[in-house]
Amino acid sequence: MENSEKINVLISEEEIEKRIKELAEEINNDFRGEKVIIIGVLKGSFMFLSDLVKKINLDTEIYFIEVSSYGDGTTTSGVVQMKKDIDRDIKDENVIIVEDIIDTGITMSKVMEIIKFRGAKTVRLASCSSKPARRRVEVDIDYLGFEVEDKFIVGYGLDCAQKYRNLPYIGVVEE
Ligand code: IMP
Ligand code: MG
Repeated sequence: MENSEKINVLISEEEIEKRIKELAEEINNDFRGEKVIIIGVLKGSFMFLSDLVKKINLDTEIYFIEVSSYGDGTTTSGVVQMKKDIDRDIKDENVIIVEDIIDTGITMSKVMEIIKFRGAKTVRLASCSSKPARRRVEVDIDYLGFEVEDKFIVGYGLDCAQKYRNLPYIGVVEE
């Protein structure tokens, strides 16, 4: 690998695959016969979203939004900005927002508020991971992949200053 730091695997590719199958099954059961609008939060959710939607057998449409709450470092700025929005009316639709990780919860509480305000029939949240120890705003996660301890994680879409998003597993950068 070109990267100089060593990454310790926290959640393997196999574990992720198994958990995604279970989450997709839950979603398929919850929305059987209905249409679901899937909204991924760029960039971090791209890998989780693509693996998840392959296992979803419902009538779906896929969109992406981009919000920013972090700089290039590893601490939150606390300010949430919608950098890219969707161009589709979601009134009376079932919406599932797909996120990489819920950390302080600040980003997702803001996103959920915006989407609910637009009159969706249901708004659910699927997140690949969650760090409950860091929570500052309460967020209900309907479909959660993994709870992780209070460490900065990378891979499977998650970055550290834009690096490591391509790793097929979730890991921790060795200090
Ligand atoms: P929150 O608003 O604090 O919940 O976090 C929002 C965003 O911060 C997430 O969607 C991630 O993009 C990023 N983030 C939080 N924790 C981590 C981490 O451990 N690794 C990489 N990105 C993270
Ligand atoms: Mg994110």
